[in-house]
Amino acid sequence: MSSEEFRRHGREVIDWIADYYEGLESLPVLSQVAPGEIRQRLPPHPPASGEGFDGILKDLQDVILPGITHWQHPSFFAFFPANASGPAILGDLLASGLGVQGMLWATSPAATELETLVMDWLAELLDLPAAFHSSSAGGGVIQSSASDAALVALLAAVHRSSGGASEVGGVASGRFTVYTSSQTHSSVEKACRIAGLGSGALRKLDVDPAKQAADPDHLARMLAADVEAGYTPALVVASVGATGTGALDPVGELAELAHSYGAWLHVDAAWAGVAAVCDELRFLNAGLEKVDSYTTNPHKWLLTNFDCNAFWVADRRPLIGALSILPEYLRNAATDAGSVIDYRDWQVPLGRRFRALKLWSVLRWYGAEGLQQHIRGHVALAQEFASWVAADDRFELVAPHPLALVSFRLRAGDEPTRKLMDTINSSGRAYLTHTVLDGQLALRVAIGSPGTERRHVLGLWELIADSMA
Ligand SMILES: Cc1ncc(COP(=O)(O)O)c(C=O)c1O
Repeated sequence: MSSEEFRRHGREVIDWIADYYEGLESLPVLSQVAPGEIRQRLPPHPPASGEGFDGILKDLQDVILPGITHWQHPSFFAFFPANASGPAILGDLLASGLGVQGMLWATSPAATELETLVMDWLAELLDLPAAFHSSSAGGGVIQSSASDAALVALLAAVHRSSGGASEVGGVASGRFTVYTSSQTHSSVEKACRIAGLGSGALRKLDVDPAKQAADPDHLARMLAADVEAGYTPALVVASVGATGTGALDPVGELAELAHSYGAWLHVDAAWAGVAAVCDELRFLNAGLEKVDSYTTNPHKWLLTNFDCNAFWVADRRPLIGALSILPEYLRNAATDAGSVIDYRDWQVPLGRRFRALKLWSVLRWYGAEGLQQHIRGHVALAQEFASWVAADDRFELVAPHPLALVSFRLRAGDEPTRKLMDTINSSGRAYLTHTVLDGQLALRVAIGSPGTERRHVLGLWELIADSMA
């Protein structure tokens, strides 16, 4: 592709994206295609000769678009949001254009230094403890996902608990255990499997039925029993904004217990953590001064396209100890001098994209005030939606909703609740998902799309009423 062709098609692509956003509201939120339908409409074999870009854009419009669930749609209330924004898209495009692979400081110094800076900026915007800043013993890194963050936290924890033995003897001999609540995201169990501990190493903590938050007394009992039985507690994961209901675990209490047994405390605040840009929501940070690592996803609710997970450690040595292997072909003067950060040592893969560019674009374009406005708007809408649910006898709120997730069910039971969800989703006018709490189905309305306004939330409420009529 020549520069001229690139300019021409590049403009067409930007126009296509802008048109897509302008017309988004008229599209069905949840894709209505059947399994296999999209593939069937595409050629089974790759072209022998190159094709023009116009044909690619045409197929995108005609064939691919019907198979898209529109995560940026203002009536997308499913799962948690996966925000995109103009500055993030452009920042990512620039990263693609530069095409750097920033595995080492030496392979693109600016990629590393900008990442360190934006992670410090984000820590400051969220008012995180000083230990997470790069000027301390800790620091931040961009991972691909909160699942990656859980995995590297576990690897660092096992490394520390084993006194570095993970470098030589592996983890199997350690009989390490991991603790988290039954509401915590499944990524923690997956991390146990990937790390070689197996799902059997994971202990699920009971939750308080009203708040769905982890019970510290249960943790205390499990830790004592496991140590008695010869296990080594390596990691406790606290959730701040658990996936099902947004539950907030008592982080400080869990951290104190973890530390009294030499275990690492990791906080998974994948969705909720970014809301601490707002002063009035800083209760989300309670206890963080006691934890070993913390993660939140700008790619969920902070206007930064997937993938962009922010992960901080209070002490970077166990992380680097667990993940650093320096073969001869990666050696260079800066690494040997120990004067730089090599982010390959903070993650599982070697290679890494220049993701800091899009986060930098977002933080600069919106500033603290723009980010606060984005979060505050959604929290206010969720509070209003929850008040409508609370005032209607047919429904029951099932968990506290201090942020922008409202979980509720029909008092009539699981069957009508599921039917309501299916009717809404198949209408294409809104999309929401479910969870199971205490054996009963509950619907989740997560408000967080950048374009969601009051009229969309009101529209959902009307759709709910119509679907039940
Ligand atoms: C609390 C929590 N943790 C972890 C994850 C996994 O996020 P990721 O896709 O970044 O791995 C999610 C996803 O929704 C989540 O809600």
